[in-house]
Amino acid sequence: MKEMRIGIIGAGVISHRHMTVWSKIPQAKIVAVADVDEKKLAAWSARYGVSNSYRNFRDLLKRDDIDAVDVCVHNNLHVPISLEVMRAGKHCYCEKPMAGSYADAKLLYDAQKVYGKKLAIQISSIYNLQTRMARDMITRGELGKVYHMRSVGSRRKGRPGLDMKGLSPDFYSKFYAEHGALFDMGVYHISQLLFVTGIPKLESVYGATYQEVEIDERLLEGRKFEVEELGVGLAKYEGGLSLDIIEPWAINIDKIGDTFIAGSKGGLKFLNVDSGGGKLARSANMPMMGAREPELYFYGYQNGREVDVDLRCASNARAEEAANPGISIYNDNHLHWMAYLSGDLSDETRYDTPWLALNTMLVSEGLFLSGQLGRSVTAEEIAALSKSTAIRRQQTDWGVLEYEL
Ligand SMILES: NC(=O)c1ccc[n+]([C@@H]2O[C@H](COP(=O)([O-])OP(=O)(O)OC[C@H]3O[C@@H](n4cnc5c(N)ncnc54)[C@H](O)[C@@H]3O)[C@@H](O)[C@H]2O)c1
Repeated sequence: MKEMRIGIIGAGVISHRHMTVWSKIPQAKIVAVADVDEKKLAAWSARYGVSNSYRNFRDLLKRDDIDAVDVCVHNNLHVPISLEVMRAGKHCYCEKPMAGSYADAKLLYDAQKVYGKKLAIQISSIYNLQTRMARDMITRGELGKVYHMRSVGSRRKGRPGLDMKGLSPDFYSKFYAEHGALFDMGVYHISQLLFVTGIPKLESVYGATYQEVEIDERLLEGRKFEVEELGVGLAKYEGGLSLDIIEPWAINIDKIGDTFIAGSKGGLKFLNVDSGGGKLARSANMPMMGAREPELYFYGYQNGREVDVDLRCASNARAEEAANPGISIYNDNHLHWMAYLSGDLSDETRYDTPWLALNTMLVSEGLFLSGQLGRSVTAEEIAALSKSTAIRRQQTDWGVLEYEL
């Protein structure tokens, strides 16, 4: 793997988790950082010893010694900033969700070709043996005909920035985040299911989103909670495959189950889906990090009798990595991207996260559109009616940043 010189844009919570990962990849050299918040920037630079720090990310992009940029800002800035990264001739790794709307995500997707740069979107749930094993089993026909999937998030009270105080209130601001539970948490489960089933073609979606769980006004500290805390829906894909979605940041019920796939010969249940940033991040002792390893269970029949099988992902993954250290580029987001930039993975062998993220945006946005129109919507309607929500003008403490898409 080649050495890559990387700049970070956004020095908030997730950037620290990224730094934990980058510190474990010797070929990744973090050479510069940008954040509009000068105090945060100074603390970040001192902590990691990165002296090239900029309050205006455009100054970071002017540097000609940076190969690639890691974009760690909020959802509605993902596309405006990632587009500028690629226009500046740098490769781009961007946090999830890909954007605040399908329309913006499509712009970013198309920009890869326009600027000839390599793009990846963070989707940590697909880089592990749980996902690879499920995909292999489906490809080999071990589940028979796969006809239904369920995407489940299960937080009883976990609205970032509100119930989860270590996180920024920008998570529930329409301006910065655009959407809540579905775009923040749902992306991990929906993307994982689409990935293991070969990214099927969406036909239609019926759904709704809610913000009903009572909020203690004191927690808001004068702000407004402007995004959904629950998304539910039913999507139909080509070939009769269906996907139902229930993704709450908050809900007044104890357990709502797990993500699963049902096939004519067998089913799979996904436990501890990785939404914590990947294996290298998980081993760090960070708060909010899923400490438990992803696991997979098979349910079916053997010789006419019911069987439940623990596929033992965690111990098999350890054995697999010991026998084949090269597999690690399929076990971590950041390593995978580095391998792609280095040419160790090609356009064919890398995980195409921009395409996966774009298709996740399509179905997710369908739930909002369906809720607004009070009927099911087709994939074509979602794409046609989606509007840009990207930030065009951002006021900072030191001036205004204008963005062109
Ligand atoms: N925090 C998590 O656990 C987590 C996990 C996975 C993904 N993410 C994703 O990461 C993104 C950021 O989340 P976070 O928790 O780090 O938020 P955060 O608010 O802690 O950090 C965002 C940072 O971006 C900076 N910023 C805003 N505008 C900027 C600009 N124009 N140029 C440079 N910097 C700018 C802010 O000052 C802030 O420091 C979100 O899209 C979120 O979905 C977060």
